[in-house]
Amino acid sequence: MRTIVLCFFLTSQVCSGHKFPPWFKFGAATSSYQIEGAWNVSDKTQHIWDTYCHSSGNKCSNVNADEGANSYYQWRDDIQAAADLGLDYYRFSISWTRILPTGFPNKISDDGVRYYNDLINGLLEKGIEPVVTIYHWELPQSLQDLGGWTNELIRTWFADYARVLFSLFADRVKIWLTINEPLIMCAAAYSEHTAMAPGVRDPNYGAFLCAKNTIMAHAHAWRIYDELYKPKYHGKVSLASQIFWMEGINDEVQQLTELAFKLNVMYIYPIFSKRGGWPVEIEEIFVELSKKEGYSSSRLPPFTDEEREFVKGTYDYFGLNYYTSRLVRPTFDGEKTYWPFRGSPDLGAALVPDASWRVSDNVPWLYEYPKGLRHIMEWIKKEFGDIEIIITEVGYGDSGKEPDHKRIRYHKEHLEQVHLAIQEGIRVTGYIAWSLIDTFEWEAGYTVKFGLYKVDYNDPSKKRKLRASGLYYADVIKSRDFDIKHKYISDEL
Ligand code: NOJ
Repeated sequence: MRTIVLCFFLTSQVCSGHKFPPWFKFGAATSSYQIEGAWNVSDKTQHIWDTYCHSSGNKCSNVNADEGANSYYQWRDDIQAAADLGLDYYRFSISWTRILPTGFPNKISDDGVRYYNDLINGLLEKGIEPVVTIYHWELPQSLQDLGGWTNELIRTWFADYARVLFSLFADRVKIWLTINEPLIMCAAAYSEHTAMAPGVRDPNYGAFLCAKNTIMAHAHAWRIYDELYKPKYHGKVSLASQIFWMEGINDEVQQLTELAFKLNVMYIYPIFSKRGGWPVEIEEIFVELSKKEGYSSSRLPPFTDEEREFVKGTYDYFGLNYYTSRLVRPTFDGEKTYWPFRGSPDLGAALVPDASWRVSDNVPWLYEYPKGLRHIMEWIKKEFGDIEIIITEVGYGDSGKEPDHKRIRYHKEHLEQVHLAIQEGIRVTGYIAWSLIDTFEWEAGYTVKFGLYKVDYNDPSKKRKLRASGLYYADVIKSRDFDIKHKYISDEL
């Protein structure tokens, strides 16, 4: 029997059974390099992913996104796809070098501005709200050549870029994300395996310089909006943080689990915590470690008091990207593990999946644990207060087998957890699925599919074809109910 539950948030109202309240928004996301193509069209210059996927010994599964889904030309198809699903939000990102070919604001590309204006206006005409990411990993190569995210000057370079975007689009874009996933972009980009552009192997030092500069750059951009644009347009700015939920393998490892989790979310503390700065215990561990390793100061650059105050509170909501979780167990004798990547302290904690969690057929890290999503939201509320949360990414990648029952199940089970979170009084206001259409999946190239729409990359017309999961999502949005009967939902999964 359906229970009647109270929805506490915003407009206190009664919502029943599995239905989402009327204020809850549904969306889907993409990012510029992953779909736009047109890598050298007009005055766009090369960015680090162009360089990385063009380099010999290509790390992008021997392909690149020069053409991608061709969204630079087929943006109308993307808008139509979003409209056909009935989306409230479409999250996309802006390509820095398409707008500022030199990387600096001394030259603004008319074609770049026209492209994003068309996209934004086209969405608004269909009643879809644009959610815009300023930086989804495509640093201008010109700035990389000057040290990129390890050069402190990037705080100003990024602020200048953000200022240009606000001046061009803030009259129509009300929801902004400064930076997508600092954890992944810094740790993976400078990792041992050079798993992402720019592919600089410097896990000990570079990754942590990048971490601090990213957070500072975000704060600069937030402050520009807050001072100059918020009073006029009343929009909101945050960043998208990917968080892995973690649980101890048993009760005895609670302390270890908390420490491992803190390391994974240390990027969030300078912005969202009352104290500001890195979590104290993580800062201390790095001080000790760096001393032992022979460095003259901590490899994790601390925030000065002034910087701490500057960064603290630079958010208007919490942008949460969630895909998967891990269990924490103590390492075995001699076993070395580092989280998130090499260069992090060895806490003696190994991250493993629970044996009962299903794993995607084609994304080895994607273990399904829907409850993890709710637990993270509970943790955000407990740790930082009653902040509005928008789930800025959640999605299931696979090899593209049709119909995509498993992606339906994934979204259904995660929507259920969001619904439960609302009942618990958590201020979660939106669910943005990754991804609207298939995208270029970074180092995995085109082998991994996340799309609610399939893109046929072999067909020159790059047709977008609705997947079963897209059909399910459209029905959820229409009925506002995640537990709909659906011909593609199979109990056997
Ligand atoms: C998060 C990233 O923001 C996105 O670019 C990527 O495609 C998805 N994760 C899936 O791995």
